[in-house]
Amino acid sequence: EKGGYEHFMFKEIMEQPKAIRDTISPRLRDGKVVLDDVTITKEDLEDLDRLYVIACGSSYHVGMAAKYILERLLRIPVEVTLASEFRYCAPIVTKHTLALVISQSGETIDTLAAMREAKRLGARILSIVNVVGSTIARESDDVLYTWAGPEIAVATTKAYSTQLAVIYLLGLYFADRLGRVTAEEYSRLVEELRTLPAKAEAILKDTEKIQYYASIYFNHNSVFYIGRNIDYAVGLEGSLKLKEISYIHSEAYAAGELKHGTISLIEDGTLVVALAGWNELFEKLMSNVKEVKARGADVIGIACENHKEALESLVDSAMTIPEVDPMFLPSLEVIPMQLFAYYVALMRGCDIDKPRNLAKSVTVE
Ligand code: F6R
Repeated sequence: EKGGYEHFMFKEIMEQPKAIRDTISPRLRDGKVVLDDVTITKEDLEDLDRLYVIACGSSYHVGMAAKYILERLLRIPVEVTLASEFRYCAPIVTKHTLALVISQSGETIDTLAAMREAKRLGARILSIVNVVGSTIARESDDVLYTWAGPEIAVATTKAYSTQLAVIYLLGLYFADRLGRVTAEEYSRLVEELRTLPAKAEAILKDTEKIQYYASIYFNHNSVFYIGRNIDYAVGLEGSLKLKEISYIHSEAYAAGELKHGTISLIEDGTLVVALAGWNELFEKLMSNVKEVKARGADVIGIACENHKEALESLVDSAMTIPEVDPMFLPSLEVIPMQLFAYYVALMRGCDIDKPRNLAKSVTVE
């Protein structure tokens, strides 16, 4: 049942290209995104003044990436709220609000309660759910299913990746309907989306290097993930993956925040994972890398292939991914992050598929 692998988590990591493909291909027709299951009209879309993303954990991290993606494509403000906070933050919700509810299980109690509150306040609910017929799916106005298939490991991997895939589809679909993207840009992005599974596959072919890095760093006890913009959103997910399965304390920081406090924690042997996939911000990230290295940190860096040499000259351990439009970076960058967490946990002898104190579906507040 584990497909010959030792753990469900590894099997599910490997299944990601297929899961992404299964999620996007039924919704791509003749170079266009077609979302037959979404009933929101063009007029509803034009009336939207705000989007709220409501989710927990990794699904919330997809929301963090979604903010960058959807605001860029739609130019509509996107608020990302932890479901457990939503009811207590006096959310500014009207009938012109679309609530995007993201949940693998479709049963997370905080997410469900927040969704009901958003509905009560007048929002329209569009959910992104993996489990067909789950409570969140049933109570939504529209559902876009992620076709990840059953996810068994407690730490999510393929569900996260398919949630992102749905965000790309949704962003492109809405942007097209609203006329907020040029025909050329739209075609270029749809084509990049179509080729994303193959790029993910290419990264998964080269696991040895990541396994080797894990063997160097698995004994560290403090790890910081730094990145800017969408790279920061991936850092949040990378950090969560590592801490939940390996029990190593880790945190993610927006790289520019380092000098506002965090840098005082950097000392000899602290591990910093620097996410520098966004080409435009590469130099900025590298100056943060120099700052932490000067204070004794060991640095794993990740960037696109075009920056391979520069990256290798500045960090201790380099990982590269194929070049993509920045909005697709999370889908590729997250793979080395998942594999790194997996191999570190393996070397530390942790119970990877069932980490202590955690449940797959959180149905109590
Ligand atoms: C982390 C993880 C959790 C879930 C969170 C939300 O690997 O799996 O953080 O993402 O509990 O669960 P869903 O998406 O089922 O609402």
